[in-house]
Amino acid sequence: LSLRCAGLRPGDKVVTTPLSAFATTLAILRVGAVPVFVDVDASGSIDLERCRDVFKETPALRYFVPVHLYGRCLDLDRLQAIQNEFNLVVIEDCAQSIGAAFRSKQAGTVGRAAAVSFYPTKNLGALGDGGMLLTADPAIAERARRLRNYGQSSRYFHEELGMNSRLDELQAALLRNILLPQLDAWTRRRQAIAHQYRMRIHHEALKLPAISSAEQAVWHLFPLRVQGDRAAFRRHLEHHGIMSDVHYPRLIPDQPALQNYKTFEIRTPLTEAARWRDEEVSLPIHPFLSDADVDSVVKACNAWEGSCTR
Ligand SMILES: Cc1ncc(COP(=O)(O)O)c(C=O)c1O
Repeated sequence: LSLRCAGLRPGDKVVTTPLSAFATTLAILRVGAVPVFVDVDASGSIDLERCRDVFKETPALRYFVPVHLYGRCLDLDRLQAIQNEFNLVVIEDCAQSIGAAFRSKQAGTVGRAAAVSFYPTKNLGALGDGGMLLTADPAIAERARRLRNYGQSSRYFHEELGMNSRLDELQAALLRNILLPQLDAWTRRRQAIAHQYRMRIHHEALKLPAISSAEQAVWHLFPLRVQGDRAAFRRHLEHHGIMSDVHYPRLIPDQPALQNYKTFEIRTPLTEAARWRDEEVSLPIHPFLSDADVDSVVKACNAWEGSCTR
């Protein structure tokens, strides 16, 4: 919805990341637009310096969908500068990063609009599917209200082809009255767990996320890079009763759905993204982990007998 509201048309190109939930790219393809993939950096999020080079080389590129991945927050000063320098339409994917910030700016406040997800596993999960579009632009807000409601601008008057993308009232009421008031406390718990992991996991083959003091991550996920046998590490965790996951095991341009589509571009070698694909493991992180749970994750990581092979 936000891409449509911001004027994206079929055939337009949109710079985005190859390492994200497929939904990020699907939103672009569903408009009939063309994703243009640029590599990520050491944080796993799209590399803003590479993006700057791409926008400089190709002034016709106007649309940009960065993702604040894993609950991290991109450097918003840099994002703002790139947006201004190239007069871009930026739509921020904040599905994993509700509440994340960089210096005094919140994720989702730099672009023309942003999208958040209330999918149940998200930091602010509803009891079913849901999401929200954030914008400070009244024109985008008005069009989004219309598009989410079959393009209806007044009762039974359809100005354009919209869809049914309303947040249902039950989810909205639960979110506002019960779940949202707890979000700050849940975020603090996630941050405390991430702090424990970062301070206490020491292993030559486990690379922990590095984060600057300017960034306030909300740790939707806690991504490690395993510089040894990843499958063996995951088996070791499982043996200790610890669930893990990989975000993401396949880059978006390598998904079978895109092979049939063929309308995408890869603008830089996706070397760092491929490393994330091959090395990443997400440790358990959510507000309901007990201190004992966190201890056992730390101990299991530190006790792994694997070694660094990269
Ligand atoms: C980065 C990212 N973008 C978009 C989405 C899609 O959100 P939703 O499932 O609410 O449409 C997700 C959810 O998995 C996500 O993680």
